[in-house]
Amino acid sequence: MEYKLRKAEPRDVSDILRLVKELAKYEEMEHQVTLTEKELLEDGFGDTPFYHCIIAEIPGDNISDDPKVVGFAMYYFTYDPWVGKQLYLEEFYVMDEYRGAGIGSEILRHLSDLAMKTRCTGMMFVVAENNEPSLQFYKRRGAEDLSQEEGWRLFRFDKDSLIKMATPAEE
Ligand code: ACO
Repeated sequence: MEYKLRKAEPRDVSDILRLVKELAKYEEMEHQVTLTEKELLEDGFGDTPFYHCIIAEIPGDNISDDPKVVGFAMYYFTYDPWVGKQLYLEEFYVMDEYRGAGIGSEILRHLSDLAMKTRCTGMMFVVAENNEPSLQFYKRRGAEDLSQEEGWRLFRFDKDSLIKMATPAEE
């Protein structure tokens, strides 16, 4: 299949949000997506980007049609005080009808090249426990399951908890 990978641009935010929602639906958590295109635009393309995306696109059906965005990976850089820079893979998705053609592997190759260039010592990501195809996809490529092997648990303070801990607003 003919496809190409490229860095996301501001014009991609509607496709990014569409794919974020598709992945959330696949994970049966679609109702949790509250993000808007405006936030994606501000957060990814301002002076301090909070995320980066790689886009996979295929040519349009007709020569005059725009290419179609069929997959993406969202990532950013984090820091591990034991081993240094890490690439964090936040989201990874290829539309159902385009899976199995090597797009996902090519995205991982691209991210691995980037990780090597930026001297990252690893790529971290979280996979839902019931997403068995994806767990196997990563394991076949050598990923370690840290929850199983090292017993780490994933935590979050939600906004209400943060408000409780934060400095009270001035009256
Ligand atoms: N659907 C899925 N996998 C298939 C299919 C198919 N129809 N047909 C074949 N496969 C096999 C391939 O043979 C290949 O096997 P391999 O691991 O032995 O190479 C593998 O599944 C797919 O490889 P690619 O074609 O390189 O990858 P693809 O373009 O299918 O993308 C991805 C992989 C992103 C995981 C995709 O399957 C997907 O979007 N899955 C649903 C969403 C998901 O689970 N995303 C990851 C969540 S975890 C996170 O975001 C950090």
